Amino acid sequence: MPKSDFASSVEEIKKGGVVGMPTETVYGLAASINSKAGIEKIFSTKERPFFDPLIVHVANLAQVDLVAREMPFMARILAKAFWPGPLTLILSKLDTLNPMITSGLMHVGVRMPNHPLALKLIEACGPLAAPSANKFKKVSPTTAEHVLSEFNDNVLVLDGGSAAIGIESTVIGFNGDEVKIYRPGMISARDIEKVLKDAGVKPIVSYTASPVAPGQLEHHYMPRVPLLIIKEQKDLKDQSMNPKELILSENAAVAARNLYADMRRLCDEGADLIYVVKKKNHDEDQWQGIWDRLTKASFHK
Ligand code: TXA
Ligand code: MG
Repeated sequence: MPKSDFASSVEEIKKGGVVGMPTETVYGLAASINSKAGIEKIFSTKERPFFDPLIVHVANLAQVDLVAREMPFMARILAKAFWPGPLTLILSKLDTLNPMITSGLMHVGVRMPNHPLALKLIEACGPLAAPSANKFKKVSPTTAEHVLSEFNDNVLVLDGGSAAIGIESTVIGFNGDEVKIYRPGMISARDIEKVLKDAGVKPIVSYTASPVAPGQLEHHYMPRVPLLIIKEQKDLKDQSMNPKELILSENAAVAARNLYADMRRLCDEGADLIYVVKKKNHDEDQWQGIWDRLTKASFHK
């Protein structure tokens, strides 16, 4: 199937299908939260196991009430500061929400994407469940072409250009005055802390590798060939015929934007090994999301 126009995308979702949806982070594979067939189609298209819950995308705060019981005080402050944007809030779910979306968990991940076409689509169709539009464990798509190649042209895609952020949203949950970062992203721990402190809250923000959390599987975001993380440039000719370097921009925002597209390009150029050099400054806050993805993409820990 080809790229889709807006009206056909709305129609496809309303009749219980899935559509590749542009967002500012990565493309999603979207279905209506009210369509059992649509939700099932997300899992079958992605070949995704049912234990991995989906994020619900909303276009306004009123739509949060259609899926979540309440928004804790800190969630409200963060939504006001970062939505629409790359932050997913884990909230208590409403009983009426299809349990397939949350994999049977009592909580649901919700975010408002910062992309005009996504917001328009959600306004027209209601909240949309959407995981990244890639096969399970593979690299997320940042262009409409990536989505088509991922699913051999078997899905409709709404083309919204290249994703501006480039890696998936930061996923956080709340526990009293604690904020747990389940999946780091381009909104960093420090960004979250700052907004809450400015609002007079003193949060405890920590990274948690939760068993029920995002991309918790050790190997995830895998390119087609092995990815190796090294500390300094070295000759890898004894390990592979055609090693290619994934060069990260000095600027974290630019590095994130290009990350997945570069992994795909190096594979297409015939690399049989991709390597990336980890520098000292990469331990800084704004690099956490990028290195989380690179570590999970690597076979070498
Ligand atoms: O930027 C993004 O978040 C993209 C775009 C399309 O919005 N979506 C995305 O979805 O990355 P996905 O399914 O590839 O990753 C969502 C992660 C999953 O690994 C899932 O485990 C976690 O969020 N998640 C979703 N709901 C959750 C819940 N109720 N509790 C804990 N983790 C949850
Ligand atoms: Mg994903």
